[in-house]
Amino acid sequence: MAGGSKSFNTNRVVCNAAGDAKRAEMTTPGGTSQMMQAIFLKDHVKRLIDIQPTYISRPTFESYLASLRKKKRPAPSGPLLHVKITHTAINHVDLLYAHGVHQNNKSGLFVPPFTLGLEFSGIVAAVHNPENEACRFSPGDKVWGGSMGTHAEELITPASDLHHLPSPLWSLHDMAAIGAGTFPVSYGALTTIAGLKAGETILVHAAAGGLGVYAVEIARALGAKVIGTVGSQHKLSVVEGLLRDPQTGHIPKGEGVINYSKDGWEKDVVELCKQTGKDGVDVVYDTVGLVQKSIRCTTFNGRIVVVGFAARTGTGAEAVEALEKIPVNRVLLKQIKLLGYRYGETSRRLPDETVKMWQGLYQLLSQGPTVIKPVVYKTYKGLDHANEAMEALHRRQVFGKAVIEVCNEDEALQEVMQRSKQAGTAVPARL
Ligand SMILES: NC(=O)c1ccc[n+]([C@@H]2O[C@H](COP(=O)([O-])OP(=O)(O)OC[C@H]3O[C@@H](n4cnc5c(N)ncnc54)[C@H](OP(=O)(O)O)[C@@H]3O)[C@@H](O)[C@H]2O)c1
Repeated sequence: MAGGSKSFNTNRVVCNAAGDAKRAEMTTPGGTSQMMQAIFLKDHVKRLIDIQPTYISRPTFESYLASLRKKKRPAPSGPLLHVKITHTAINHVDLLYAHGVHQNNKSGLFVPPFTLGLEFSGIVAAVHNPENEACRFSPGDKVWGGSMGTHAEELITPASDLHHLPSPLWSLHDMAAIGAGTFPVSYGALTTIAGLKAGETILVHAAAGGLGVYAVEIARALGAKVIGTVGSQHKLSVVEGLLRDPQTGHIPKGEGVINYSKDGWEKDVVELCKQTGKDGVDVVYDTVGLVQKSIRCTTFNGRIVVVGFAARTGTGAEAVEALEKIPVNRVLLKQIKLLGYRYGETSRRLPDETVKMWQGLYQLLSQGPTVIKPVVYKTYKGLDHANEAMEALHRRQVFGKAVIEVCNEDEALQEVMQRSKQAGTAVPARL
C-alpha cells in the first residue's frame, strides 16, 4: 500500500530534489508529509511558462481558519472539508489571476501570495463540523467543486462549495473536465438568463472554448439548433464533431461552424439561419466580446448574453478602453435584449435561483456522459505541467478543458484511509 508521502511522490513527473528533501524532513513518524505541492504564486507573473509548483505546508482546519482571521475575513458558515485533490482543470480566469489583471486582483480579494486554481475533483479526507450541523459529506466521498487554490495536492473548503458526483457513471477525471467553474456558467447562462427553448437557434461564440463546448452540448440537449464560431480550422473540426449526427455523420440543416477570423462571418451566420427559414439567431452566447457584430446576425427581439471578453487585451484603463462600444440605436432597432451574466455573483446574491439552476443541471448530468460528454484537450500528469497547460490555453491551442491529474484516484483513496487510521477516526466502510 502506498504510504502518505510516497503517494505524493509517485505523481510528480519532474522530481525536485530540494523539494523531496524538504518534504522528507517534514514527514511525521506516521509517514504523512506536512508539505504538499501547489502552484503557489508569491507574485504575479509575466510569463505563464515560468510558473513552477513549490512546496508549501499542507493545510489544516486550524491553519485555514487562522489565515481567514489574518485577512480579517469571516469564517464561512457550515462544515469545512479537507479534500485530497485528484484532478484540477485550467480555467481562463487562472491566466488573469496569474497576470494580476482580473477584477478580483484589483479589488484586493486575490492578492499574492495565493495558490492558483478554481475547479477540481477529489476525495474528502476529513470533515470539520464543530457545531454538528447537517453535512452531506463524509471521508471517502468523491466530490467536485469550485474553490480558490485548487492547483494543489490538498484543499480546505466550505462544504457549500462541493458537490457529489452526479452519478457513478461519471469519473473524477470527467467531473474536473466538466468543471464546477465552467459547465454551470454555460448552463446558467443558457437556461436562467437566456431562457433558451427547443427549436430556437443559438450562436455560440468561441464554441471550442471551455464555456463554448459545453454551451454547444447544453443547447443541443435543450433541443436548440447551434451555430458555433471559432478562430482556427482545428477548432472548427472539434465543434463540427459535436454537431454531427452520430448515425448519419451529417450536421443538421441550420447548424454549422464558422471561422470568425474571416471578415464578414456575420453574413455566413445569417445564411445558415436561412436554411431553416429564419432571418437570424434567437440567442447569442458571447464569451469573446463580439456584441456589435452579433447584433447583425440576431433576429428581431433576439437575446444576447454577455459572459466574457476573452479577446480583450491590455490591463487597467487600457483594458477598459479595449471593451466594445455598442451602438445603442442597433439595440433599439432590432429590439435586442442585452443580458449580462456573472455566475459567481448570482450564486452569492440569488441563492434560491442558484439552487434551482443546479437541480436542472444535475438532472441533465444524472444520465452520465451521454448527451453531455467531457471535452478534454489533454490530461497532464502532475502539477509540474500546469505551466504548459496554462501556456497552451493562453496560445488558444486548447479546446474544451485542459485537465491536470494531481494524484491517481486509487492512491488518493489509500491515503485517505491511511490518514483516517492515523487519526484514530473510523475508516469509511466504502473504502
Ligand atoms: N461571466 C462569468 O460568470 C464568467 C465565468 C467564467 C468565465 N468567464 C469569462 O468568459 C471568457 C471565456 O472563458 P472560457 O473559460 O471559455 O475561456 P477559454 O477556455 O480560454 O476559451 C476562450 C476562447 O475564446 C477565444 N478567443 C478569442 N480571442 C481570444 C484571445 N485573444 N485570447 C484567448 N482566447 C480568445 C478562443 O477561441 P478561438 O481560438 O476559437 O477564437 C478561446 O478558445 C473569459 O473572458 C472568462 O473570463 C466569465
